[in-house]
Parts: sequence; structure tokens; C-alpha cells
Amino acid sequence: MAVLAGIIGCGGIAHNHAHGYIHSGKDVKLAACCDIDIEKAKRFAEEFDIPHFYGSCEEMLAAEELGLVSVCTWNSAHAPCTIAALNAGANVICEKPMAMNAAEARTMEKAAQDNRKLLMVGFVRRQGADARTAKKLIEDGVLGEIYYAKAQYLRRCGFPGGWFGDSSRSGGGPLIDLGVHVIDLARYVMGCPKPVSVYGITDYRLGSRFDLRMASWEAHTKERPVFDVENLALAMIKFDNGATLQVETSFNLNRKDDVGSMEIYGDKAGLNLDNFELYTTYDGLNANVNLLNTGSFHFSNDFDREIAHFIDAAAGETECIAPARDGVVLMEILDAVYASAKSGQVEMMG
Ligand SMILES: NC(=O)c1ccc[n+]([C@@H]2O[C@H](COP(=O)([O-])OP(=O)(O)OC[C@H]3O[C@@H](n4cnc5c(N)ncnc54)[C@H](O)[C@@H]3O)[C@@H](O)[C@H]2O)c1
Repeated sequence: MAVLAGIIGCGGIAHNHAHGYIHSGKDVKLAACCDIDIEKAKRFAEEFDIPHFYGSCEEMLAAEELGLVSVCTWNSAHAPCTIAALNAGANVICEKPMAMNAAEARTMEKAAQDNRKLLMVGFVRRQGADARTAKKLIEDGVLGEIYYAKAQYLRRCGFPGGWFGDSSRSGGGPLIDLGVHVIDLARYVMGCPKPVSVYGITDYRLGSRFDLRMASWEAHTKERPVFDVENLALAMIKFDNGATLQVETSFNLNRKDDVGSMEIYGDKAGLNLDNFELYTTYDGLNANVNLLNTGSFHFSNDFDREIAHFIDAAAGETECIAPARDGVVLMEILDAVYASAKSGQVEMMG
């Protein structure tokens, strides 16, 4: 009999999860969805031909026997919805960031352990072909010992609008929304070293730039959204293997272009993940090596891959590559960046 899947939160990213279940080719049926905006849940159910929709996760979980649940709500609802789904006996994939903070993330991890269910975090960048190749190059020793990495996720004028600027629902700005992707990706390809200290800086001065974004926001809302989160976050994260990760992330910044980039430096070679070029030396010469056809991150394909992996990992057919533990560690890093930015001191970690 098909395993039944349900989706909590029927907004933007839920579409990628629904597509992933429907096109997984596995014995899974997307049986139910819910949203606190029940009209949204109804439209979503119609769009994806989902038989049942509800106005809360409690109603959905009480009425349905779900084996798989996607939590696609805004960030403040990740912990309560995930814990409710785990307690109802489902395996859960929760979107990134795992929670508002590490304390919440730990309660979610414990709920998964207590219920003996899988809790996977939606670190979709781990599913990319670029991540797989970089991880293999590092594991094979091609880069030598990694001692520095630099990740940028900078937008010139890219506050997403809606709840993303409301700290009571998002937990923070570009650090928790965008930085989470690149910090996790860097840590993942480096073999998940333990963070030992963090120095963070945040800046709030540019605000939402609502007036510049007005044209694209009009489609969604005429209301000026709340914006009480940082606009720029910088961090230096030191790991127990001696490596340092430098991160820069913004919603709004006076620069020419948006940029998402990652560079990893080892004592044998450096790797630029964006153009997949290796920088090394050969016979007394500097050498640039292009790795062709490695593939890059592909948004929709890698969501399909993520959901297929979740289904297999929940069935015990493969080991989950994005377990709750890594989500907890990531939230500990983010907490430390915000704490350091507030205190002006280096934050030492556990
Ligand atoms: N992995 C990625 O690349 C990626 C990309 C975009 C968004 N996300 C993450 O996905 C999540 C959702 O983002 P989005 O862009 O889809 O937001 P969205 O605003 O489009 O959708 C969120 C939905 O959750 C619903 N909701 C809120 N609280 C709820 C609750 N308690 N029960 C049921 N429904 C609830 C809202 O009504 C809304 O419809 C966020 O955590 C975001 O960080 C991840």
C-alpha cells in the first residue's frame, strides 16, 4: 500500500515539495495538505489534485495516517508543526532554517528520537551535483588540507517581502534565510567539522528598500511589510579541524550585481564551486584546471532529488544526508553569529 504524504504550509516552496512527491516514481501518494490560510490550502489541493485539505496541521494529523510530512511554513512554525507531525507518527522533512534558534532545533531533534522517526532538514544545496563533486574531490584529498573557505550570498535589492523581514516569524534576515544555505554547503563538503568559535557582524541601516521593490511586490501585497531584521551579516566561523569559513550575506547592499559564490582553499589546491575550477601548481607553474560537465545546483531538479531521498531515507533504504543533528549545529552557528554581533566579542562554542 502506498505511503501517504502530507504538506504543512501551502506557499511558494510547498510547490517544489508537491512536485517532488508526485514525480518521485515511488509508491507514495500525496494525500493531504494544510495551511492556516485555508483558501490557500484549497487552491493548493486543487492544483496538485490532493484529496484532502485542512486549516491547521492538528486537524490534518488527526484525520490522516501520514507516513511522510513536509513542513513548508514560515520559520516560527517549523518547530511546533514538526513536533506535532513526529508525535503523530510521521517522518518529517522540515524546510531550512530548521528553526528560529538552536534551542527549538534541539526540541525537534529530541521529538524525532523519542518517536523513532526520521527528521530531515531541507538543506537542498546538499543535493546539487556541485556539492557531490566538491565533496568527493575533498574526500579524495585533491585539495589537501582545507584551511579556508569563503562563501558569499549577496543581493543588491533582494528582500523577499512578506514575513521574511518580520523577526517574530523569520528569526532574522539574510543570515538565517540565505546564509544558512552557504554555511551548510561549505560545512557539508568539508566533512561537517565542529564549529569552535564565531565572530559576527550585522548591519541594519538600509532597511527593506520597499520603495525600490514596489513593482515586484505589488503582485503580492500593497502593505508595507514589517522589516526589523538585519540587512547585512558577516561572519568568521572557526572549526575544530583548523579551517575558517568567511561568510557575507545581504538582502540589500550597494553593489552592482547579486552574487552567490563559494571558494574552498586547501594546501594542495583551491576550488571555486561556481565555475568548477581548481587552482593548483604543477612543475613550478601555477595551474588552473577546469572540471567539465560537473553540473551545478539546479533548483527544481534538486528539490525532486531531495524529496526522493527523503522517501528512501524514511523507508530505511538509504542513510539520510541531511539529518536533524546538522540542522541543530547550523542553528548553533547562526545563534553564535547573532550573539557575537550583539556583544562585539568572539562567541566561543561548546
Ligand atoms: N530550500 C530553499 O531553497 C527554500 C526556498 C524558499 C523558501 N524556503 C523555506 O521554506 C519555508 C516557506 O517559505 P515560502 O517562501 O514557501 O513562504 P510562503 O510565505 O510562500 O509560505 C509559507 C506558508 O506557511 C503558512 N503557514 C504559516 N504558519 C503555518 C502553520 N502553523 N500551519 C500551517 N501553515 C502555516 C502560511 O500561511 C504560508 O502560506 C521557509 O522556512 C523558507 O525559509 C526554502
